[in-house]
Amino acid sequence: MSNMVPQLTGFIFYEGLEDLPPFNPDKPQDVAPVLHFRKLLQDADAVIICTPEYAFGIPGVLKNAFDWVVSTGEFNEKPVAVISASPLASGGEKALESLLHTLTALGTIKDEHSALIIPAVKKKINETGEITDADTFKQLQLLLDYLLLATQQKMDEKV
Ligand SMILES: Cc1cc2nc3c(=O)[nH]c(=O)nc-3n(C[C@H](O)[C@H](O)[C@H](O)COP(=O)(O)O)c2cc1C
Repeated sequence: MSNMVPQLTGFIFYEGLEDLPPFNPDKPQDVAPVLHFRKLLQDADAVIICTPEYAFGIPGVLKNAFDWVVSTGEFNEKPVAVISASPLASGGEKALESLLHTLTALGTIKDEHSALIIPAVKKKINETGEITDADTFKQLQLLLDYLLLATQQKMDEKV
């Protein structure tokens, strides 16, 4: 996806969801995978979240990751773009709705242009991850353009 946004100076693909322990506010908070996850978020100008849907919701490991940053606030005022993708015609819309609720609770910057549902994803992206469907490519490009705009606006407000 980073090649769709040449203006980006860096793009980190986070693959550590399974390293995060189950969230428990009564357990020690300063464990390495959690500190690493929080630092990545602190350093990020914006975050893109793409999720499948399991049992009408987001995967437990993804929700667990959000729970780890509720009290520390790394997502607060962070511009986000969210995508659900599913082999089904519904495109994971229930997962996306649930994800948007969680991101509202976390205080992210988003609006109606910040979300994309990709139904029948297996007909649109091939096994090596390339987008083969022109409409999906355009929708993703629009989503990313809008995220860049929101990120730039946020940076301009800081100056
Ligand atoms: C236990 C289970 C529950 C699932 N629940 C949903 C669901 O509620 N909605 C949906 O759109 N897809 C559902 N799926 C399909 C997954 O979204 C799909 O398998 C996932 O995108 C992974 O794709 P893959 O088959 O390429 O690994 C489910 C799959 C499994 C195994």
